[in-house]
Amino acid sequence: MWYIIIITVCLSVQVPGLLKRKEAHTSPINLKNKLKNPSIVRSLLTKPQQNRMPIFSWLIVILTSLESLAGEEDPSSWPGNLEPLASKAKLIQVGELDSFPSPQEFFMNYAYRGVPVVFRGGAKGFPAYSKWSDLYLKSIPEAQWTMVGVEINKKEDRTLPTQTMPLREFIQRYQSHNEYLVTSVPEYLRYDVLMPLPLQCTQVINNLVDCLLWISGGGTKSVLHNDNVDNINCIFSGRKEFLLLNYTKYKDDIIFDRIEEGAMSVDVDKVDFTKFPTLAKVDFHFASVSAGDCIFLPYKW
Ligand SMILES: *[C@@H]1O[C@H](CO)[C@@H](O)[C@H](O)[C@H]1NC(C)=O
Repeated sequence: MWYIIIITVCLSVQVPGLLKRKEAHTSPINLKNKLKNPSIVRSLLTKPQQNRMPIFSWLIVILTSLESLAGEEDPSSWPGNLEPLASKAKLIQVGELDSFPSPQEFFMNYAYRGVPVVFRGGAKGFPAYSKWSDLYLKSIPEAQWTMVGVEINKKEDRTLPTQTMPLREFIQRYQSHNEYLVTSVPEYLRYDVLMPLPLQCTQVINNLVDCLLWISGGGTKSVLHNDNVDNINCIFSGRKEFLLLNYTKYKDDIIFDRIEEGAMSVDVDKVDFTKFPTLAKVDFHFASVSAGDCIFLPYKW
């Protein structure tokens, strides 16, 4: 990027000087007209001499820049190529609050402006945080017959069909299977999930889209995607890491080629810059969210 800018500057600085030199030496007709004006003659005669040094130094800059540009142009040589997503990217730490803010503060400073934020300890007061375990979930009578959606690959691949099975069966097998649960929170578990404080006002509650539950034995990876809604994601056990892209900043550069899913076909473990060159140039926002924390993910981030 830098080199392209330098070259543009060099050329625009140099063009007038080069033209004048040409005119002075190779265009007698022009020269003849200009001879009528003594001040132009003076400048034609002196300028080329003064310019010789600068031209040579500019040319050296141009040549070295072009050499570096050749390296830059081959995305397979860029740092981080075929490595996990954002492995060499600049990471911007997502900001944190040490509890949930009021709805006013949340909407003014975060939701309305599209600013992600971690609410440390925000979910510690949820019954789910203290109650839920494999043993507890298996012991609920309804878990025997409530059907839940299960993705059959921990590395998300939205082209695979989802399975359904009773919640109890999933809890019995997920630690030893390459699968994870993603489903609407079953009715009888909803009492354990409180409405986050920032969302506790009628206007918001009336506009809630869904309340989803994820369960995985670890090592789950999602595709690079965005959602058409604001999200608050709370962790009750384990840890989840988020890499986020600023939608306002990159909406024209990052193209989600799987349009219907709002997802990108990039392999998040092995990012091919020759296919997705813009992913080498973006800054990612990063957050590590632990049990008891929640995070706000802005619309389309
Ligand atoms: C996202 O990008 C826009 C445009 O560059 C910028 O104004 C805004 O501050 C960025 N948001 C965050 C949270 O960095």
